[in-house]
Amino acid sequence: MILSRIAKKLTRSNGIQSLMEDLGSAWSGSTENIAFLGGGNPAKIPEAEKIYRSAVESIITSGGTLESLLGDYTSPIGSDETRELTAAYLGKFFGTTLQGNQIAFFNGSQNAYSFLLNSFSGTMEDGSFKKILLPVVPEYIGYADQTWEENVFYANLPIVEKTTPHRFRYKLDKTNIPWETIGCVALSRPTNPTGNVMENEDVDWLYTESRKNNIPLLIDLAYGNPFPNLIGEKEPTRWKPGMILSLSFSKVGLPGVRLGIIIADPEIISVLSSFAAVGNLAVGNWGQALAKVFWKEDSLPQISKNILRPYYANKLQTALEIIEEIFAKNKVQYSIHEPEGGFFLWIHFPNLPISNKELYQICKKENVYIVSGHYFFPGLTAQFSHTQECIRLTYCRDRKEIVRGAEIIARIVSRTAN
Ligand SMILES: Cc1ncc(COP(=O)(O)O)c(C=O)c1O
Repeated sequence: MILSRIAKKLTRSNGIQSLMEDLGSAWSGSTENIAFLGGGNPAKIPEAEKIYRSAVESIITSGGTLESLLGDYTSPIGSDETRELTAAYLGKFFGTTLQGNQIAFFNGSQNAYSFLLNSFSGTMEDGSFKKILLPVVPEYIGYADQTWEENVFYANLPIVEKTTPHRFRYKLDKTNIPWETIGCVALSRPTNPTGNVMENEDVDWLYTESRKNNIPLLIDLAYGNPFPNLIGEKEPTRWKPGMILSLSFSKVGLPGVRLGIIIADPEIISVLSSFAAVGNLAVGNWGQALAKVFWKEDSLPQISKNILRPYYANKLQTALEIIEEIFAKNKVQYSIHEPEGGFFLWIHFPNLPISNKELYQICKKENVYIVSGHYFFPGLTAQFSHTQECIRLTYCRDRKEIVRGAEIIARIVSRTAN
């Protein structure tokens, strides 16, 4: 069988595929002897699930809605009515007023990114070749394999700032960015995998530079404001012309609904609408129907504040205590990225004698699933030891899984170091 280059590129082992496969195999089994610390599944939180169930029930029981939900195609990026309602509802969270033609719905924000990243990178209509600037790597694994052309990411080395003996933080290096070769800037805030929430002054600087260069600034708010709002004490992200923001229903606990929302200037929404018509025909109806209920009841910011934030803060605290105690007992050399937001811990093992890829394989044999950090540096060509020495763990799992995972990781890391 002869495949196209793009098919070949996609079928090469890629990070997101291996992660989703691990997620699938662990999901179907018992977690008795498994520590599944790999995936980005949100936690199952009964209090939130109850509210989602009642929203679904209200849709099902309202006359005629179910038949239309199941039986009608909507427009490629959502119905005009839902887009208008969404603009009116979301504007206040982003310090602006929005119109319906600034909103587009997709089957998950991942689906939107596959269109967005390809709209602003690769061979452009004037024949130039443009890249996607990832201002601070590590950055979200799911962007890396989305582009149809090769070598479209650009990343500088991040500045590594030691904050306490076992904590550090990556920061934006503003020097030497080849702006003339950049077609758009993309970052997740909070960042998956590190938990970094970029300072607003750095976001403002990127915005100013993007405007000067007439390119969009994409900010992925999958874990950000206004829901699930896992941004610690940091300032929320605001929308300004030229920015593209993406929101998702997944991390509030509804990944199965597959709803992503894009906020952008009308001309960008219109490009996305063409992509969506060709690639998707239409966006699914369930997410839009739930959005209408949630906006009417103003429920997601409340759920975020009263249920999700306290729940995840507690999980994070527990995971940090367990990991630090077990690592100290095993004399593991480690440093954790300041966990400012999101679901993950990004752990650096300085001078790790095996690669993080090998660490992943050894852990997997012991039923401990982690994500190797090497996937998260697309576009970085400079040498950087962190690409080989870091792993990502989710802290959203049960205590016993975290204990088991931390013990096995500590044993492997300290064994290989001696
Ligand atoms: C930073 C980030 N962006 C986007 C996504 C995609 O989410 P979805 O397609 O479920 O909206 C994820 C999922 O893990 C993510 O972590």
